[in-house]
Amino acid sequence: MPTKNIVTILAIETSCDETSVAILKCSGGAQRPRLDVVSNIVSSQIKLHAPYGGVVPNLAKREHQKNLPRILKLALAKADIKNPKTELDAVAVTHGPGLEPALWAGITFAGEKAQEWNLPLMGINHMEGHLITPLLENKSSIAYPALALLVSGGHTSLVLAKKLGEYKTIGETVDDAAGEAFDKVARMMNLAYPGGPLISKLARTGNRYGFSFPRPMILQKNYNFSFSGLKTAVLYTLRDLKEQKKAYTNNDIAASFEEAVIDVLILKTQRAIQEFKVKTLIVGGGVAANSRLRLRLGNMVRALEPRPLFALPEIRYTGDNAAMIGGAAYIHFLKKDFSSPNTVRASWKTLKAHATLEL
Ligand code: KG4
Ligand code: ZN
Repeated sequence: MPTKNIVTILAIETSCDETSVAILKCSGGAQRPRLDVVSNIVSSQIKLHAPYGGVVPNLAKREHQKNLPRILKLALAKADIKNPKTELDAVAVTHGPGLEPALWAGITFAGEKAQEWNLPLMGINHMEGHLITPLLENKSSIAYPALALLVSGGHTSLVLAKKLGEYKTIGETVDDAAGEAFDKVARMMNLAYPGGPLISKLARTGNRYGFSFPRPMILQKNYNFSFSGLKTAVLYTLRDLKEQKKAYTNNDIAASFEEAVIDVLILKTQRAIQEFKVKTLIVGGGVAANSRLRLRLGNMVRALEPRPLFALPEIRYTGDNAAMIGGAAYIHFLKKDFSSPNTVRASWKTLKAHATLEL
């Protein structure tokens, strides 16, 4: 354990199409950590992948490799770190889940830097990163047990947290993730990738009850989700409307689709809060930027008795970023025995990418 109370972590995230490097100054205990984000540089590859309608793994890897040195420099400069070897305490990197080639770009780069600076290297789960986002910049407090609704392009899960670092996934999607469904429906409407934010924008002025789309698995007594049937229902509706030359607006389709997704997310989340007597609802992941979801989750929580705390990340921390990886790394850093510097440093050689890593 470093003698000082502040732990400075450099974190790297390359699991998908954002290259990101962050530096955090962390203090406090593992359950009420103080996570100050000193720098968090995020470089998006969206323009590169947009023509393909999704992320191309090997293109993503090459772009991460090309950008990492420059982004690291920016992150260090913004944090005013001149001598990483003495000013940093650890290097953290996402080791899964994600696109394997993309993950490797970050892991290899992080390993080289940890070695050069003689620092411990920590492999961090991307979803734990999303889970801690409400704690960044000390915006939320969490009482336990907490329930996390994690909604991203690759995941839709409900995770119980007995405390930070101790998780149990109680439900997840059996097919498409929520963000993936937004992206696929957007594509059907010829919108650009990623479609989530565009659907959300169209939905604002649409009729949420214009089309009655299914709410898959909403009545099932489990916490799993399925969005593939809903996506297909939208596809058939669009096809029929075109065939019958009926007038309709993308706004009404977007709003009705969005409401169907949110109805399912809300109902299952509410049931889990009640069944597990949850004291905090945490929300994280790219889809947590959705304004309608934020509003309706807030309303749902406020109507509950007893009312749980509601821990929502700032919009800028909903998408992929390295700050969240640094935050999750601190929780694990506190658990490690750093009196022997070799313990974690050994992972230079053993850290691997795990495309389907679970929490
Ligand atoms: O967490 P994230 O940045 O990357 C993954 O780990 O997958 O999530 C990206 C997903 C994309 O599917 C994107 O369309 C969706 O989040 N998303 C949204 C919104 N903003 C981003 N979905 C719905 N409404 C939004 N406002
Ligand atoms: Zn993510």
